[in-house]
Amino acid sequence: MTRYAKILGTGSYLPENRVTNDDLSKTLDTSDEWIYSRTGIKARHLASVEQNTSDLAVIAAQRALETSGVTCDEIDLIVLATSTPDVIFPSTACIVQEKLGMNGFAAFDVQAVCAGFMYALVTANAYISSGLAKKALVIGADTFSHIMDWTDRSTCVLFGDGAGAVVLGQSDEPGIIHAKLAADGRYQHLLNTPGQVVHGEVVGRPFLQMNGQGVFKFAVKALAKIAEDVLNESGFKQEQIDWLVPHQANVRIIESTAKHLGLSMDKVIVTLDEQGNTSAASVPLALDFGVKSGQIKPGQHLMLEGIGGGFAWGAALVKY
Ligand code: ACO
Repeated sequence: MTRYAKILGTGSYLPENRVTNDDLSKTLDTSDEWIYSRTGIKARHLASVEQNTSDLAVIAAQRALETSGVTCDEIDLIVLATSTPDVIFPSTACIVQEKLGMNGFAAFDVQAVCAGFMYALVTANAYISSGLAKKALVIGADTFSHIMDWTDRSTCVLFGDGAGAVVLGQSDEPGIIHAKLAADGRYQHLLNTPGQVVHGEVVGRPFLQMNGQGVFKFAVKALAKIAEDVLNESGFKQEQIDWLVPHQANVRIIESTAKHLGLSMDKVIVTLDEQGNTSAASVPLALDFGVKSGQIKPGQHLMLEGIGGGFAWGAALVKY
């Protein structure tokens, strides 16, 4: 019998500290008008220096467990997407496992920057549909505020911190209907954080850097193509999609993907106005927002998609 993986529950967490565009303009040569008109962002939530990615991830995971009605002892896999791990090692997934009072099963991180949750979801889907796991916590969590150059107005205004999670479980009917991942390392220069630790010293710039227009052009094309591929390969039609749940980087990138899929913006979950770009957390945060606000209902078809540094990107057609 073919096993499928289905989303059993969602959860998310945003740090308490909400910082508006006007707040940023007090210390930075920027304005609400510039940021909002170019990106659609009005505010973001920022973790404190002491708050690590695992702290955010644990709360999102607890909330996803609660809404799914699944208990900790039923979980037999954690896949956590982040590019801001607490430490070089152990993995943030192992730290989250320990903080949740669990042990003994596979827990690991995947690193695909803003496409991280798509990579984590597809990986957990493969474990569950092959019978290697029965119930998985799939988490996207990032604290990009920790790798921002807060004097660089061209990057720091775009990002926020947060975590989102889903519980994925076995099902006789498709939940994850079809998904596709892609990467192209030739474009790593467009978006990266090149610093590394060598012999105890930070070598290279440890802050996020980006070619904004290059990212924009790449993202628009790649997302349109991969969503179209997922539809074609699954035999689904555009009109069967109830909701687009996109990575939240820039409202103009989201509008372009929606247009390509023939969806009006009232079929798109948008959270970036209040959250900014939360990298790997962005898709599960948007999913949880869509579910908790009553917009996304059981049985509906969702197109999830994400893209980020690497370049890495992915899309998944999901029956919620
Ligand atoms: N406030 C005020 N002025 C600013 C700011 C700011 N925060 N940032 C840059 N500027 C200035 C620049 O210095 C420049 O000034 P100049 O003309 O005097 O040199 C001017 O604004 C225009 O700069 P551009 O970089 O050309 O602005 P652009 O219209 O391309 O918008 C933006 C920049 C919003 C970053 C856009 O390129 C974009 O959204 N790109 C996509 C990037 C993205 O989403 N990245 C997220 C990470 S990747 C991902 O998640 C997919």
